[in-house]
Amino acid sequence: MSRKSPKSYHVKSFGCQMNVYDGERMAELLDAQGLSPAKDADAADLVVLNTCHIREKAAEKVYSDIGRLVKGKGGDKPMIAVAGCVAQAEGAEIPKRARDVDIVVGPQAYHKLPDLVAKAARGENALDTDMPAASKFGALPKRAKPAPSAFLTVQEGCDKFCTYCVVPYTRGAEVSRPWDAIVDEAKALVDAGAKEITLLGQNVNAWQSEDEAGRTQRLDGLIRALDRIEGLARIRYTTSHPSDMTGELIAAHGEFEKLMPYLHLPVQSGSDPILKAMNRSHSAASYLAILDHVRQARPDIAISGDFIVGFPGESEADFDATLEIVRAAKYAHAFSFKYSPRPGTPAAEMGDEFVPAEIADERLQRLQALLNEQQLAFNRKTVGKTTQLLLERDGRKPGQKIGKSPWLQSVHVETDAPIGSLIDVDIVSAGPNSLGGAIPAKAAA
Ligand code: 5AD
Ligand code: SF4
Repeated sequence: MSRKSPKSYHVKSFGCQMNVYDGERMAELLDAQGLSPAKDADAADLVVLNTCHIREKAAEKVYSDIGRLVKGKGGDKPMIAVAGCVAQAEGAEIPKRARDVDIVVGPQAYHKLPDLVAKAARGENALDTDMPAASKFGALPKRAKPAPSAFLTVQEGCDKFCTYCVVPYTRGAEVSRPWDAIVDEAKALVDAGAKEITLLGQNVNAWQSEDEAGRTQRLDGLIRALDRIEGLARIRYTTSHPSDMTGELIAAHGEFEKLMPYLHLPVQSGSDPILKAMNRSHSAASYLAILDHVRQARPDIAISGDFIVGFPGESEADFDATLEIVRAAKYAHAFSFKYSPRPGTPAAEMGDEFVPAEIADERLQRLQALLNEQQLAFNRKTVGKTTQLLLERDGRKPGQKIGKSPWLQSVHVETDAPIGSLIDVDIVSAGPNSLGGAIPAKAAA
């Protein structure tokens, strides 16, 4: 059955920052087709659900969202596209399970979204989960309206095959975007107003390419090139794997002022037998040695991590080792999750060793209590400092703005300075999740 071509769209992204980036690029594609952004999903003719498959709960969200969209519209349902990693993993199963889905498009095929929308409008089958050799990036429009802090995907996919993780299956093998394409996109972002660029990749520090002179460059070389872009004030990168944390990249943290003092370096567990079962290729000690080197290069660096509790076979002693590595590492921020078996991954086959849910819940609570304590301690240590903020959005109170510190903390401050400004503030208070800032007396006078 054919239907009206959509005139407005809404993209809703779940999961990681790579999905946020993909969501922005899909919005730019639809803008270029003459569609306009709707204020929310209910007002849109086309809703793109850009999904995450990393844990079961995240993957199931898409189905409850589809149900809500269809009900909310009272018969006049929007065109629904499922994009992202659930689309890649479940493909043609999605429209079988949720008949209201019109389009299924994987993370390597979304440059074809406009064609798929046209197909769906004609009532044709609109599914594309190809992982073509040619990159989608060349087919995307130029970056036009970035936020002051913009994402730039430089690397996709993963060859590490941690035994719990779906990413090597949903995002495919590790692929680095070429040097020129990245430098051009960074310049376009800065020309369009971005002040900060976060280089993104599932294994961003595995990125590698030849530069314009044919020399092989790694992430430290790319950071050096971006450091020279006038108008770009801040550089970040995420997510890194400990095995790709080269000496040169560590040294870059001491060398480039624009490279912000923040490193997201997941460890997952502090127990060597569990790390081995996860196929992590590092030990607790080798991870801590990396942190030591990074802190030598940049003593004030904020360290962030990811943790999984309740991995199959995790004993109380294994979990204690995780608490121990947290105490040794002193995190500024961290994400922690209960292990979720993912179809097709090796760990999902270790059923006889699964940790009972109550035990995993209890461990997660203990871990999070410790991580929250560390986060608050880190935030409190910044009270009394004068630091630079990049203003990113309006706060809830009139005149209030929210910006990010170099250590990626959210800081609330009253100021007339416009969004996108870099301003100095005194940090005057600290909570677990945000800080209070004030314009220094000298600057205010
Ligand atoms: N179960 C729980 N957490 C997971 N992660 C990845 N796969 C799983 C899983 N199956 C976590 C890891 C990773 C982060 C993005 O998500 O901590 O670093
Ligand atoms: Fe989720 Fe991983 Fe896909 Fe990102 S790459 S959307 S975290 S499954």
